[in-house]
Amino acid sequence: MFDAIYREMVRRDLPTLLAMSRENMASIILALWGVEMRDEEVLHAIFDPTVYTEVVEAEGQIIGFFSVEAQDGNLFINALQVKKGYQGQGYGTAMMARIETLARAQGASVIELWVQLTNRPAMEFYRHRGYRTISRQGNNYLMRKKLT
Ligand SMILES: CC(C)(COP(=O)(O)OP(=O)(O)OC[C@H]1O[C@@H](n2cnc3c(N)ncnc32)[C@H](O)[C@@H]1OP(=O)(O)O)[C@@H](O)C(=O)NCCC(=O)NCCS
Repeated sequence: MFDAIYREMVRRDLPTLLAMSRENMASIILALWGVEMRDEEVLHAIFDPTVYTEVVEAEGQIIGFFSVEAQDGNLFINALQVKKGYQGQGYGTAMMARIETLARAQGASVIELWVQLTNRPAMEFYRHRGYRTISRQGNNYLMRKKLT
């Protein structure tokens, strides 16, 4: 893992975040839902006024980001992406720790997220970090972690 900088996203980051999401997720979405990934849906998840998005920079470029949103007193993870070529180097783990810090700071004791049924690496990644599968809705599982 390189030295990383964490900062809130700004509007000019959007093309990079959309491209990263597309590179990581388009094939999963096409295979599961049979539709092309739409930028509008990613934008809604990462750039709404109620959403907080943080990017990770390393080697002078954005190599990952996450988006979270308060929901009924819990924190919901709308997006978590690490750029191809930088996955498996600890950035996702570091972002999950950041998310827990944010949750505690705002008094949330539960963190939730959706993961696609076929996205087994991500599911395992979350499971190893204390998230449990709660229910299935369509092509997603709801996963939850209770903070202690
Ligand atoms: C899932 C993801 C966020 C994990 O972040 P990461 O930086 O690759 O993960 P880390 O290096 O911190 O941790 C490595 C762990 O993730 C697992 N992993 C998940 N996807 C991986 C990938 N594509 N490459 C390498 N390791 C991956 C490893 O098996 C390892 O497992 P363990 O430590 O739980 O045993 C990242 O791989 C990613 O962006 N994947 C594509 C997008 C995606 O699926 N996002 C989640 C949508 S719900």
